[in-house]
Amino acid sequence: MKNFFSIKDVVNVYDIIKESILLKKNPYNFQNIGRNRTIGLVFFNPSLRTRISCQKAAFNLGCNVWTLDIKNDSWKIEMHDGGIMKDTQEHIKEAISVMSIYCDILAVRALPNLLDKNYDYKEILFKKILYYSKVPVVNLESATLHPLQSLADVITIAEHSSFFKKKSKVVLSWAPHVNPLPHSVANSFSQWITKIRELDFIITYPNGYDLHKKFLHGVKISNNQNESFKNADFIYAKNWSSYLYYGKIIVHDFKWMINQEKMKLTNNAKFMHCLPVRRNIVVEDSVLNSKNSIVLEQSKNRIYAAQIIFLKILQSL
Ligand code: CP
Repeated sequence: MKNFFSIKDVVNVYDIIKESILLKKNPYNFQNIGRNRTIGLVFFNPSLRTRISCQKAAFNLGCNVWTLDIKNDSWKIEMHDGGIMKDTQEHIKEAISVMSIYCDILAVRALPNLLDKNYDYKEILFKKILYYSKVPVVNLESATLHPLQSLADVITIAEHSSFFKKKSKVVLSWAPHVNPLPHSVANSFSQWITKIRELDFIITYPNGYDLHKKFLHGVKISNNQNESFKNADFIYAKNWSSYLYYGKIIVHDFKWMINQEKMKLTNNAKFMHCLPVRRNIVVEDSVLNSKNSIVLEQSKNRIYAAQIIFLKILQSL
């Protein structure tokens, strides 16, 4: 594997899930591959799970790791080309090129600005990162995609469905939030889930919250949340801001929050969320605290999702 930007860098989704589950059983099997190798983790935005799960994944492979929180620990980075840098101190070109000299894999989180649809959806910033890096790059969440989260999510669903032997209905449900959030988790989840033939997938959201059409290709869509929940085996809750009215919150009422009443419509469904989650805004306490909540399992699988990707890249160096 040369880079890991999206699902397109994975040859076979079933195989990578299988290999991740094997790695989970024997996480230290490849301790020698990381000897004298360094993974650099760069965060333009905050993180808890991605940062720590990637560190743990790297340690499991015997790698050294350094982490940089750009906002708090570095210079103010200029993202645009050709300007006079009065307010910024270092250009993305030098920053990425230099950081990539200090590692064998550069993993980067750079979230969208949610102001300029064209800039975000053309992944202009991440394309620069890929271009300026002298080593393979891993996407830790870009403007439109969060592929490591989705890999962890499909691993978790595989574990709860005897590797998809049990035909399952998976519902991605929009849920309310107080801030406008990126679309990356929903976009990526749709990309990965639709590659698994055994899953019946539906996305439910209020009017005006359609994702970009390239992420809805072949996906069932409904604006009726209760109807969608019927017979579901997995409910994945996630907020995203509007794509159409780019980056805006257009529904302010909280009737889309996931609660016990809605979960009762399902086939005793497992509750999923990528975290962090706002309790009693996105989902009621009782659902998150219930035995059907598998959010911690998703978080744990972030380690093995990162580890399999780092391993594939290390094997190709
Ligand atoms: N789910 C996820 O990516 O969590 P963090 O933002 O805490 O890394």
